[in-house]
Amino acid sequence: MSTPETLILRRPDDWHVHLRDGAMLRSVVNWTARQFRRAIAMPNLVPPVTTTDEGRAYRERILAAVDPDLGFEPLIVCYLTDHTDPDDLQRGAAEGVFTAVKLYPAHATTNSSHGVTDVRKLAPVFERMQKIGLPLLLHGEVTDKAVDIFDREAVFIERVFQPLRAAFPGLKTVFEHITTAEAADFVADGDENLAATITPHHLHINRNAIFDGGIRPHAYCLPIAKRERHRLALVKAATSGSAKFFLGTDTAPHAVEAKEAACGCAGIFCAPYALESYAALFEAEGALDRLEGFASVHGPRFYGLPLNEERVKLERVAEPVPEKLELEAATLVPFHAGETLGWRFGGVLPA
Ligand code: DOR
Ligand code: ZN
Repeated sequence: MSTPETLILRRPDDWHVHLRDGAMLRSVVNWTARQFRRAIAMPNLVPPVTTTDEGRAYRERILAAVDPDLGFEPLIVCYLTDHTDPDDLQRGAAEGVFTAVKLYPAHATTNSSHGVTDVRKLAPVFERMQKIGLPLLLHGEVTDKAVDIFDREAVFIERVFQPLRAAFPGLKTVFEHITTAEAADFVADGDENLAATITPHHLHINRNAIFDGGIRPHAYCLPIAKRERHRLALVKAATSGSAKFFLGTDTAPHAVEAKEAACGCAGIFCAPYALESYAALFEAEGALDRLEGFASVHGPRFYGLPLNEERVKLERVAEPVPEKLELEAATLVPFHAGETLGWRFGGVLPA
């Protein structure tokens, strides 16, 4: 049904988003919901979502904030702490509140101060998750300040990920927002219980973008963008057709003044043009025929969820991305600000 001028895809899902809370939630949620039918909502709120009751309440706040006509379903994740109760996790999974569990090493990134200080202490939790088939989502960076920021993901694989996989081989695990050739290889070489998400920004930019003629806070996120050879490895993985790699934007809004500061926040707000951004990249690689698998099929298959029945349309039209979006909660700078993308989102088609 697709012609070169339009691309019709099964409606995609976003397996990693920061929807925030309160006024920011109201300002950003419809950007995700207009394109994606489902999204994994990250639990790094203040305070974080750490129990079934908090997860249920967060889902209700998201549903109250989103335009109901968009047919959006938020998928809620439990934030793992040193004190997570396996019984509560199991209850949350059984009651359909929790789709997965997120591990942030303590202090690895935004709002991760309640994160896990020693993964080895969580064996009873991983044991239970493995037993009930509840996936673990990993922010894969060590927090050891002695490790260079550009090496923290690769070192995490050796120090934490490999031992964890060896101890819990049946645990479904997603290596989130991978940024290195080492991570892409580790996932490609793993079994069917291991998968990874890849963001649009890590496919488009390398670390030069952060220092292009001056410091560029809107290109700063965690894990930080790496060298060009790593970007190329991610592009190869995303466009390979392998079911182990799927879409997760890691859209992470911060007010413009929180980004453009002496100590600016990590995060790239890529939700507004997410699908257009991925389409531009896949087209440049001659892999548009693999976009649907990456965006709409591999994720639900990994999570054991049904594929979406609706379709979305992308039109081959020059799409200028604004410098700023003035929203209720804040002014936000979207990914690709000031650039022109070759694709425009043309809406959701009925099932
Ligand atoms: O850049 C990032 N921003 N990386 C994360 O892991 C968290 C996120 C946020 O919440 O702002
Ligand atoms: Zn994230």
